[in-house]
Amino acid sequence: MLEGPAPHSPNPLKLMLQDVIDDRAATVPWPPGPRNFSLANTKRFSEDPLGMYLEYYERYGPVFTIKVLHFNAVMMLGPEANHYMLVSHADNFTWREGYMRDLIPLLGDGMLTIDGAFHRSSRKLMLPAFHSKKIASATEIINEEVDRAAEDLIPGAVIDLYDWVRHLALRVALRALFGLDPDKARAGDFDAVTEFENALSFHARDFALQLARGPFTPYAKLVKSRARLDQLIYGEIDRRRANGERGDDVLSLLLDAEDEDGQSLEDRHIRDHAMTLLFAGHDTTSSSVTFMFYELSKNPELLDDSVITPEMIFDETLRMYPPAYIGPRRSVEPFEFAGVTVPGNAHVNYCSWASHHLPDVWDSPETFDPMRFTEAGKKAMKKGQYIPFGGGSRTCLGMRFGQAEVGAIMRAIFERCRLEVLPGYELNIRLAPTISPTQGMPVMVHRAEPARVLSNTPQAAVEVPA
Ligand code: HEM
Repeated sequence: MLEGPAPHSPNPLKLMLQDVIDDRAATVPWPPGPRNFSLANTKRFSEDPLGMYLEYYERYGPVFTIKVLHFNAVMMLGPEANHYMLVSHADNFTWREGYMRDLIPLLGDGMLTIDGAFHRSSRKLMLPAFHSKKIASATEIINEEVDRAAEDLIPGAVIDLYDWVRHLALRVALRALFGLDPDKARAGDFDAVTEFENALSFHARDFALQLARGPFTPYAKLVKSRARLDQLIYGEIDRRRANGERGDDVLSLLLDAEDEDGQSLEDRHIRDHAMTLLFAGHDTTSSSVTFMFYELSKNPELLDDSVITPEMIFDETLRMYPPAYIGPRRSVEPFEFAGVTVPGNAHVNYCSWASHHLPDVWDSPETFDPMRFTEAGKKAMKKGQYIPFGGGSRTCLGMRFGQAEVGAIMRAIFERCRLEVLPGYELNIRLAPTISPTQGMPVMVHRAEPARVLSNTPQAAVEVPA
């Protein structure tokens, strides 16, 4: 059996204390930036993290420290910093001890929260499930689910677009990735889609509430939903092991996967990879589609531009609002970048959201302009400039799957209707743990207008090297 990492402490206070000890043990100076705890800074960060990153970038340069809560967070921004962390020096950074380790209670030791040899082997085992042939067969399921969901798009109706896509994307993930029928994955008061949402809602709660343990806390709710989801996933693993049934899905692949030394995955790790894919496979898609239609509702003339393709609109959406907005890491050894030292064992993050808004890298970064993504525009981009899917050995595994899914949703919407964000709606963004609209996004469904954007030839979605 492939050996996974050592268990992670579920005690947040112990982890916080360890952070403070680790920060004090730094053997080299920290990058510039305020390192005293400030309630005002912490509050500002919770309200406007992007504004704060951009202000600090201007003041301190591409590497700086922010004291948020109890620990020093080093931020590395810009094309060179992204390339350094994701590609040229990726081995000096781990994910598991980074600040999003609070996903471990739900996701376990799946692709996102593991490092080193176990990450490499798991990724290798899982890659065949994301080859273009497999994506093509998943597309059938995606289209079926999109058509089913599109029945709600009745002219005159008001829907919460974010909620609509989330539900759809989770159904797609259950079916296409695990061969589970979402309608059968509910029994009595158990509904896998709702249960997963309940578990994830933990991350949208106030930080202080996330620390609480005991009955009736958000953590207790997470544990309850996790137990029910575990029952579903382990039940399916047992069922397939017992009857030998296999399909075209990732679960089937994981059940029989062996590395070159003949080592396979324990059921516990199959469950963790499954849970991680369910999470990664729907949260990002939902936010991307919602942000995209927010911008299209504000800039409807873009749909009449004969040069702009759906892919360019999607690429620009991921520039302005990359859902997986931050790459949380921990440095292994101290290092120097751009003339600044960074301690080992420090929380170090790359941040696509801020990197995609730097005024010295992008022209008018606050303008939604799909024309940045013409073939010539993409060619002119620097390594590490555009990184919505991360990069290097941890590039998003589901990139093609996500692109196929968002493409199908865009087409279904463009063909059937035009969506208008309700007047007076104000977009507020939360970090939980991907960026998403705080209170969903109500839209009015209007009858379709002939949109020229549809007639544009689809092209391969953007690939700018990290
Ligand atoms: C618009 C859609 C998506 C976006 C923008 C996106 C973005 C990302 C980013 C930025 C990372 C790297 C995070 C880091 O460096 O810390 C990542 C990793 C990952 N994504 Fe996605 N993702 C999308 C859709 C999906 C889908 C549909 C799946 C699964 C079906 C998926 C599965 C994964 C997995 C497993 C990883 C971890 C890869 C590794 O560490 O080796 N993603 N994603």
